[in-house]
Amino acid sequence: MIPMPANEKPHVVLGVTGGIAAYKACELLRLLQKGGADVQVIMTRNACEFINPLTFDTLSGYPCITDTFNRPERWSVEHVALAKWADLFVIAPATANIMAKMAAGLADDMLSTTVLATKAPVLIAPAMNTGMYVNPATQQNMEILKARGVHFEDPSTGYLACGDTGVGKLAPVEAIAEHCFKLLSPRRDLAGLRVLVTAGPTREMLDPVRYISNRSSGKMGYSLAEASRDRGAEVVLLSGPVAIPAPQGVRIVPFVSTQDLLEAVLSNAPACDVIIQAAAPADYRPAEVAGQKIKKQDGEPFVLTMIENPDVAATIGKQKKPGQTFVGFAAETEQVLEHAAGKLVRKNLDLIVANDVTKPGAGFDVDTNIVTLISSDSRKTLPLQSKRDVADCILDEIMKLRQA
Ligand code: PMT
Repeated sequence: MIPMPANEKPHVVLGVTGGIAAYKACELLRLLQKGGADVQVIMTRNACEFINPLTFDTLSGYPCITDTFNRPERWSVEHVALAKWADLFVIAPATANIMAKMAAGLADDMLSTTVLATKAPVLIAPAMNTGMYVNPATQQNMEILKARGVHFEDPSTGYLACGDTGVGKLAPVEAIAEHCFKLLSPRRDLAGLRVLVTAGPTREMLDPVRYISNRSSGKMGYSLAEASRDRGAEVVLLSGPVAIPAPQGVRIVPFVSTQDLLEAVLSNAPACDVIIQAAAPADYRPAEVAGQKIKKQDGEPFVLTMIENPDVAATIGKQKKPGQTFVGFAAETEQVLEHAAGKLVRKNLDLIVANDVTKPGAGFDVDTNIVTLISSDSRKTLPLQSKRDVADCILDEIMKLRQA
């Protein structure tokens, strides 16, 4: 566990919502206190059905706040006071309901009201039935919250109280506590640096209605942009067409084709200290773009001539200035490390992030990745982890290279 600096007692507000995992919040509270935090608890009305507020009164040393006030007129004062008191707000376990309320900005009880009022970082540890968790409504609410800068400790997979086996089990309380302490002592090691990140696919038009593209959700690149922002960098995110929400606090420059991406990189890269190319640009584009929708060929094969696109990374690699750190990705399906190492040299990169996109939990679309970081003199294979954690590891490696 990351120890807190001496003489400082960070304030944590722990929100507990109604789920069978509510009892685990007691252990989380203890871990937070052990790590040096002062903790106050807010329970929703439903949470009180699972565990008695008296338990939290006793453990925290503060009266646990619930919605069963005798004097509801104190609400407005109390929620603002707690919102201001918090250095960190953690909700564990968090139901689909509280996330939906937060995404919509609803404030109809003490917890939702206080979290809406707080300026402290917010960490959510969801726990619920698998069906509820994977429901597009829940997933969309989580995406909205992530884009607003809310942090998540993702649930694990296992046997659930409802008898199902699947994703939705509260993350281990040790991991939630560790995440809390990371947020309480944020690293600002990228302060003063300008970071350019490319993310998402390109589209190469065939005609006004069709295009050729690559698989990429943009999640890896967006995680890198968010992690760089959180560590103090000024971030420009060049984004292809993706369906995930734009992160706040970064400048976004949209692109469509590989040629657009090249132009955007050429105009933004010279002012940047770190350039990370996580985008998946198409290597080829149709030789001609038809002016009208191409019609069927009466059963005859349709032959398309493709020409090579510019290699954006290789172009920038040639123009790299002293002091710039240049990072690429390699999405491979075989001989992953060999192909990636070749690209490191050919594109004049300082670091390449190799992902085997055939591995479950790695590569496109998913929220996790498994990567090997390759530089001229080292190779580091990282375990399966969230794209956000992968992003932090990549930034750690970049900072090491810059200090070498
Ligand atoms: O977006 P997600 O769904 O989260 O998925 C993430 C990812 C798998 C797309 C990402 O992690 C990734 O691997 N991105 C690079 C995909 C790719 O184009 O790989 P590549 O091996 O073909 O290219 C190597 C490097 O050259 C990359 O940094 C790429 O951005 C760059 N490149 C490639 C072609 C080209 N014409 N110009 C380039 O600059």
